[in-house]
Amino acid sequence: MDLKQFVTIVPDWPKPGINFKDITTLMDNGEAYKYATDQIVEYAREKEIDLIVGPEARGFIIGCPVAYSLGVGFAPVRKEGKLPRETIKVSYGLEYGKDVLTIHKDAIKPGQRVLITDDLLATGGTIEATIKLVEELGGVVAGIAFLIELSYLDGREKLKGYDILTLMKY
Ligand code: PRP
Repeated sequence: MDLKQFVTIVPDWPKPGINFKDITTLMDNGEAYKYATDQIVEYAREKEIDLIVGPEARGFIIGCPVAYSLGVGFAPVRKEGKLPRETIKVSYGLEYGKDVLTIHKDAIKPGQRVLITDDLLATGGTIEATIKLVEELGGVVAGIAFLIELSYLDGREKLKGYDILTLMKY
């Protein structure tokens, strides 16, 4: 299936010069969403994943159906002040901004094989920060899966040494 036909390019959003890749038109198509999810499930099986970790908000949309399908857990990475119990945190740079990401301290058991999921690899800052959180808790980043990779931003460079699956490249 050609997944790109389901992605809507929104020019100049959220600010001038950015061609936003809107995946909501992929998600609201049941067949396309299932197809994309199944690709990631297959990848996660190969990598013998114990746990999925995804950053808010779109990392949840990609990771949760994969976790459900595999029968493994999902641990959310959230922006500061959103998780109710003890967390660890890391600050990171975005394609357009800066922020802090957190995860619950007990979310990962040391040695667990983790798949990180997100909708989009842009500069790689979000996932670089997510990797730091996972590794600080003793998790092993066994794979990283994205729907979309913006190759021209070279986010892969930041994630060197990690195994990456992307379903669409721009
Ligand atoms: C977007 C996107 C990725 C990230 C990619 O999320 O969903 O998580 O940016 O950019 P990067 O590779 O340059 O880090 P955003 O930070 O807008 O958060 P949201 O999903 O909560 O809107």
